[in-house]
Amino acid sequence: MEKSWRCTVCGYIHTGENPPEICPICGADASFFELVTQDDKASTSSESKAVAKPVVAQTDEKAAIRQALYRISYGLYIITAQSEGRDNGQCANTCFQITSDPARLAIGINKQNFTHELIQKSGKFGVSVLNQTGQDYARRFGYRSGRDVDKFEGLAVHRGESGVILLDDALVTMQATVLNQMDAGTHTLFLADVTNGEILQEGDPMTYAFFRASK
Ligand SMILES: Cc1cc2nc3c(=O)[nH]c(=O)nc-3n(C[C@H](O)[C@H](O)[C@H](O)COP(=O)(O)O)c2cc1C
Repeated sequence: MEKSWRCTVCGYIHTGENPPEICPICGADASFFELVTQDDKASTSSESKAVAKPVVAQTDEKAAIRQALYRISYGLYIITAQSEGRDNGQCANTCFQITSDPARLAIGINKQNFTHELIQKSGKFGVSVLNQTGQDYARRFGYRSGRDVDKFEGLAVHRGESGVILLDDALVTMQATVLNQMDAGTHTLFLADVTNGEILQEGDPMTYAFFRASK
C-alpha cells in the first residue's frame, strides 16, 4: 500500500514510497515530511488530499520559523570598509533601506568578521549592489576572511570619497556613515546615512534566491 507523507510546515499530503524532495506548496525540503499513520488518515479523511490543515503548532515550530525566514527575499551586496590603511569587503544579504528621506540604510554584520572590525573603527562602509552575473564576487567575498587574503587582488575597483573601495562591476554603489548600532547577539546592526551614490549599470540586481539557484 502506498504511503502518505505530511508536510509538517504547511500540512500538504504527498502519496508515494518516499517524501518529495521539496513541498510543492511551501517549499520545505524532505526532512520536514512525516509519515502519516492509519490513525492519522482516519482523522483527516474528510480533508482535501492536496492541502490539509496546517499542523505547525503541534509539530516543529522551530522548523516552521526556519522555513518562514527562508522565504524572506534579499538582495546581495559587497560591503566594504577601510581603517588605518587596511581595506576589506564581505558579502552580505542583510542590507536594506530604512528611510528614503533621509537616505538611511541598515546592515547586519557578524561580529567575528574583519569587515565588522573595520566598520566599527571607521564608522563608514561602502555598498556595491551586485548584478545578476555577480556570483563570483559573492563567493570571493563571502567564503573567506580578509584577515587571511586580499580579496581585492586583480579586481577592478575604485575608491569613493569616504575612502572605501567600491566594485567597478556593480549596478550601483553607495557610501554610508554609521549613525547608530545595535547589538544583535552574534551580529551588529549598523544604521547608517547614505552620503554618496553612483549608478554604474542598468539591469536587475542579484537576489539571494537567484544566487542560491545559480550556484
Ligand atoms: C550569500 C552570502 C550572504 C552573506 N550574508 C551575510 C550577512 O548578511 N552578514 C554577515 O555578517 N555575513 C554574511 N555572509 C558571510 C560573510 O560574507 C563571510 O563570513 C565573510 O567571509 C566575512 O569576511 P571578512 O572576515 O573578510 O569580513 C554571507 C555570505 C554569503 C556567501
